[in-house]
Amino acid sequence: MKKTLLAPSLLSADFSDLTSAIKKIENEGGSIVHIDVMDGAFVPQITYGQPVIKSIRKLTGLPFDVHLMVEKPELMVDSFAEAGSDWITFHYESTVHIDRLIHHVHSLGKKCGISIVPSTPVSFISEVLHLVDLVLVMSVNPGFGGQSFIPYTLDKISELKKLREERKLDFLISVDGGVNEKNFSQVAEAGADILVSGSSFFSGKLKWEK
Ligand code: DX5
Ligand code: ZN
Repeated sequence: MKKTLLAPSLLSADFSDLTSAIKKIENEGGSIVHIDVMDGAFVPQITYGQPVIKSIRKLTGLPFDVHLMVEKPELMVDSFAEAGSDWITFHYESTVHIDRLIHHVHSLGKKCGISIVPSTPVSFISEVLHLVDLVLVMSVNPGFGGQSFIPYTLDKISELKKLREERKLDFLISVDGGVNEKNFSQVAEAGADILVSGSSFFSGKLKWEK
């Protein structure tokens, strides 16, 4: 069985010392750096954008999965690609021309992920599953770290895994929000290939070995 990968989320890091945060990710089991971009419109907070990603890009060779919680992601994917993103994940709920945007991200030479909030059914992205490299299942309502895992999202993970098998596809399933030292094995068992963890990883509660 493939080992589940950990993608620590920088959202829970000390923003005054991102160098140490990235070192911690490298030294404590992280395989991917999960970068939560919030625009104050799709979600209420504003975090960081292209210039910050560009600066921290030189700190590590780990891949960056940039999780765009923004309205109109189509206006930004070029600059996020340029800044050093490896994976660009945007929300189904944030834009209309999903098919076009997935193709555009691929044309920039980047992997493309699609994310759904807890209330969005898996069936809404059914038509594009064969196009994406990753599906990011939000297991909290996006916008804040440190929230509790919403249990019904486990069924969505299993449903995606089943669809992937039935259709012989190979997208990765990533789960984001409220993943902690208590529930991670249940989430992995449901079908997650990647676990995103912010507060539990940075508080030192979730320990991980690659
Ligand atoms: C929430 C973000 C998550 C968040 C996860 O909107 O997308 O990546 O940082 O943080 P925890 O693990 O604390 O729920
Ligand atoms: Zn995220």
